[in-house]
Amino acid sequence: MIFSTNHISMRIHSYRWPVSAFSLLLLAFVISAVDYEPTEKIFLSCGGPPDSADSDGRKWTSDIGSKFVLSSTNSLTASAAIQKPSVPQVPYMSARIFHSDFTYSFPVASGRMFLRLYFYPASYNGLDASHGVFSVTSGPYTLLKNFNASQTTEALNYDYMIKEFSLNVPFEWLNITFTPSQNASNSYAFVNGIEIVSHPDIYITDGTETVVGQSTGFNIDNSTALENVYRLNVGGNDISPSHDTGLQRSWHDDSNYIFSAARGVTEVPDPNVTVSYPSGSPSYIAPLDVYTTLRSMGPNASVNQNYNLTWTFNIDSGFSYLVRLHFCEVSDHVNKVNQRVFSIFMNNRTAEKEADVIGWAGSNGVPVHRDYVVFVPTGPPQQYLWLDLHPYTLSKSQRYDAILNGLEIFKINGTNGNLAGPNPAPLPQPLVDTGQSSGSNQSKNHKAIIGGAVGGGLATLLVAGLIVCVVSYSQMRKKDPSTGDGWLPLSLYGNSPSSGSAKTTTTGSYSSSRPSNLCRHFSFAEIKDATNDFDEALLLGVGGFGKVYRGEIDSGAKVAIKRGNPLSEQGMHEFQTEIEMLSKLRHRHLVSLIGYCEENCEMVLVYDYMAYGTLREHLYKTQNPPLPWKQRLEICIGAARGLHYLHTGAKHTIIHRDVKTTNILLDENWVAKVSDFGLSKTGPSLDHTHVSTVVKGSFGYLDPEYFRRQQLTDKSDVYSYGVVLFEILCARPALNPTLPKEQVSLAEWALHCHKKEMLDKIIDPYLKGKIAPECFKKVAETAVKCVSDVGSDRPPMGDVLWNLEFALQLQESAEESGGGFGIEDVKSFEFTKDSDLSPMGFDYSNSCSVGQGSSTSIEGRSLASQDSDGSTPSAVFSQIMNPEGR
Ligand SMILES: *[C@@H]1O[C@H](CO)[C@@H](O)[C@H](O)[C@H]1NC(C)=O
Ligand SMILES: *[C@@H]1O[C@H](CO)[C@@H](O)[C@H](O)[C@H]1NC(C)=O
Ligand SMILES: *[C@@H]1O[C@H](CO)[C@@H](O)[C@H](O)[C@H]1NC(C)=O
Repeated sequence: MIFSTNHISMRIHSYRWPVSAFSLLLLAFVISAVDYEPTEKIFLSCGGPPDSADSDGRKWTSDIGSKFVLSSTNSLTASAAIQKPSVPQVPYMSARIFHSDFTYSFPVASGRMFLRLYFYPASYNGLDASHGVFSVTSGPYTLLKNFNASQTTEALNYDYMIKEFSLNVPFEWLNITFTPSQNASNSYAFVNGIEIVSHPDIYITDGTETVVGQSTGFNIDNSTALENVYRLNVGGNDISPSHDTGLQRSWHDDSNYIFSAARGVTEVPDPNVTVSYPSGSPSYIAPLDVYTTLRSMGPNASVNQNYNLTWTFNIDSGFSYLVRLHFCEVSDHVNKVNQRVFSIFMNNRTAEKEADVIGWAGSNGVPVHRDYVVFVPTGPPQQYLWLDLHPYTLSKSQRYDAILNGLEIFKINGTNGNLAGPNPAPLPQPLVDTGQSSGSNQSKNHKAIIGGAVGGGLATLLVAGLIVCVVSYSQMRKKDPSTGDGWLPLSLYGNSPSSGSAKTTTTGSYSSSRPSNLCRHFSFAEIKDATNDFDEALLLGVGGFGKVYRGEIDSGAKVAIKRGNPLSEQGMHEFQTEIEMLSKLRHRHLVSLIGYCEENCEMVLVYDYMAYGTLREHLYKTQNPPLPWKQRLEICIGAARGLHYLHTGAKHTIIHRDVKTTNILLDENWVAKVSDFGLSKTGPSLDHTHVSTVVKGSFGYLDPEYFRRQQLTDKSDVYSYGVVLFEILCARPALNPTLPKEQVSLAEWALHCHKKEMLDKIIDPYLKGKIAPECFKKVAETAVKCVSDVGSDRPPMGDVLWNLEFALQLQESAEESGGGFGIEDVKSFEFTKDSDLSPMGFDYSNSCSVGQGSSTSIEGRSLASQDSDGSTPSAVFSQIMNPEGR
C-alpha cells in the first residue's frame, strides 16, 4: 500500500502539550505524572546463579528450574570459557545452549512488552563461538534469522550485544523460540539473558495524522513489532536503563553519528528555564535528561545558512523505520513562535518544512516529540539513513538555527512479520601493524623500495596500506555499561548501538546493542584492592591529572591506575575528555584504557601497564642504558603511527595537544604508545564559530602558531612531534633554562644548528658514529620541517611517518652493507635544502625559515621557567589564554 515509493517520509503522529490532545491529557491524569511502573519486569539470567545484580543494579534470576523453561531436556547451561575484560559478569558469563528448537514461555499480562535479548559470543562447553548461528521467533514475528552472533559482534567491534524489540502480546503468553541454523550441521543457538519489561503504547500511531511527503497514512498498531536500532540523547550523555523512566531503555550520546566536521554546539538550559512535563502528561516518553540537553547549529546565522546539521545511521535495507524526534527549547531567548524555525529532511526528503518547537510545545521548557516513517528501499544490504536539519529562512525567523534533543529509530516489521536483517559483513582484516617495521623479513623489501622506487608507486602503496589499516581501526570503539551514577556525566553505561559503524561508511550494520567492549567499570573497592590502598610504594608518577599507581587486577593483570583529584574542575573535564576519547580509540600505538571508576567523587582511570615507562626516562637524566639508534627510530615511528591515527583514523581529526616524550610510553616489547588524551580535542569543527580553545600543552613543545593565534590544528601536534624527534636525537630536554639563552629551547637551538650545518655537533654523544649519514639527514630534515614556524609548512603526520620509515630503511641497508659510521661521516654529510632524496617530495615551502620562530618562543620561554622541563601541562597557562574554551 504505502510502500510503493522510495523514501517515503511522513509525519504520522503529532502531539502537542498542553494545547491539544485533550483525551490524552485525561488519560495522562489517570496514568499520573510519575515514572511508569511496568506490570511485567523479568530479568532472566540464562544458566546463571539464582540471584545476581548487574552493573546497573538490576536483579536477575536464573532460568534454571524456573517456570519459564518448560522442559530442559533439549538444552544445557554453561559458562563462558573466558571473560573478556569489558564483559560484565551478569548476565553474560552464563548461557543456555540449544542444539534443537527450544521455547521459553512467559506468562504475562497482555499488552506491549520490550523484549531484550543479551548475547555474548564465546566458547561454551567447548563449542566454537563461530558456530553460534540461529534464528529467534516470537509468535508471528521473526526477530533474528541465521543470526551469527560472533560475526555480528566482530563486525561491529563489540564484545557483546543486546537486541531490543517491542512486541504486542495479545494472549497473556509470550513465547520465544530459538532455532539453530539449518545451514550448517554443527550450529547451535544460545542466549545469555532475557529481559521482558511491559511498556505503555507510546510508539503506536493511528494513521490519521497529517502526512508529510507523499502517500497516505501508516499504521503502527497492535500487529506491529518494532526493533529499536538507535536511541540517542542528543547533545547529552548516555543514560542507563535504571535512569530511564521505568522502561529500562538505554540512551546514548549522539556524537558518533554526526556527519562531517560541522557538529553544531550543545546547549543546556538557561538558569531560569525549567524543563518539565506539563502537569498530568505522561512523563515516561523520555527522561527529562533527554530534553534538557540539545544540539543546535551554533550562534552564527550566516554559517548556519550554509550547512546542514546531519546525522547518519547505518540500517538494513528493505524496511520501514519509525523515527521519533524529541525536542525542547531550553533557551530563555526562545519562547515565542517564529524564533527558531527549521526544516527536517530524512533521506533527502522533506519530513517537516517548518519545524517550530515553540509552536508545537507552547513554551520553552516543554518537551514534545514528532514521529516520522521512512521507507528504505532494498538495495545494498545495509545503507545509511540521513537526517538533516537546516534553518527555514523563508519564515524570516529570528534565528537561523535548528535543534534536536533526542532521537529513537525503530525498524518496523515487514509484511511477513520479519524484523531480521542480514549479518553485517565481516570487517576487512586490519593490517595489525606490520608495524615494527624493523623485522628481518622486512629487510628484503626495503631494498626494493630504496632501489627501485624512490619514485612514487611503492610509496603510494605503502601509504595506502597505512590508510586501510587506519580505517579499519577507526571502526573500533566501544563503551561499557556502568551505573551512570554520580558526577560523571559521560557515564559509559551502555553505548550507542553501533557507534563503530557510524564512524565510517564501510561497516555493516547497526544493532541494538551495548557494545561496551573496552571500557570496564571498576568499583572503588576493586581499585583500592588493586593498588594496595594506594600504596605510595606503587607510585609510578604524578601528572597534571593526579597520581599514577601500578596495580594488579583480576588474577594479576598489571595495570596503571590514575587517580584524579576530585576537587579540580579542570581535572574533571580532562577526565571526561579522556574517557570519551580513549573509549573511542583503539590502536596498537595508543595506550588502551581498560576501565574507570567514578565512585565517591573519585575519578580513577585504569590503563594497560607500560612496562618500560616513558620514552623520556630512556633518553636523559636516567639510570637506564641509552637506547640504540634503531630502537629510538622505531619508537618514533610507533608514536608517529599513533598520532597519524588520531589525526586521520577517526571520523573527526583528533588533536592530541600535548605530544611530548613523557606522553610516549613503552610496553614490555618496547612498542611505543601515545598516552594522555586528557588534553585532547576534536578539531577542527566549524572554524568560524567555535574553534577557540584554551591554550594547553607543555612548554618547549608548544606550536608557536597555536600560541600566537590560539588556532589548534593537527599541525600543532606535528610541531610538538618535531621537538620529540630532536629530543631523541640530542638526548636533552625540550627546554633547559640552565643553558645559555640561545640554547634554552631545543627546537630553536636545533634549527639554528641545522641552518649552520652543525646539527651533528649537538646530537647525543652516544649516537655518534652509529647513525648512517643518509638516515641522519632524513630524520633531521623531517624534524626541521615539523617545527616549521607556520603550520601549513609542516608535513602531515602521514608524511612524517613515511619519511621516518624510509630513514629506518636507509639505516638498515647501510648497516647491512657493513655498518660503522664514523663521526666524520656524519660531519661530512652535506645538508641541502632541497634534498632530492625525499621520495614523497617534501614540499612544504619555506620550511627552513629558522629565524621566524624566535620572537614567539621568547614569550614562551619567560613563562617557561616555571616549568623547566615541560613535564606538566600548566594550569597557569590556560588561565592566561582565552578562557572561553568551548
Ligand atoms: C559465523 O561467523 C564466523 C566469523 O565470526 C565465521 O567464521 C563462521 O563461518 C560464521 N558461521 C556461519 C555458519 O556462517
Ligand atoms: C541539506 O539537506 C537537504 C536534504 O538532504 C539538501 O537538499 C540540501 O542541499 C542540504 N543543504 C546543505 C547546505 O547542505
Ligand atoms: C507486521 O507483522 C504482522 C504479523 O505478521 C502483519 O500482520 C503486519 O501486516 C506486519 N506489518 C507490516 C507493516 O507489514
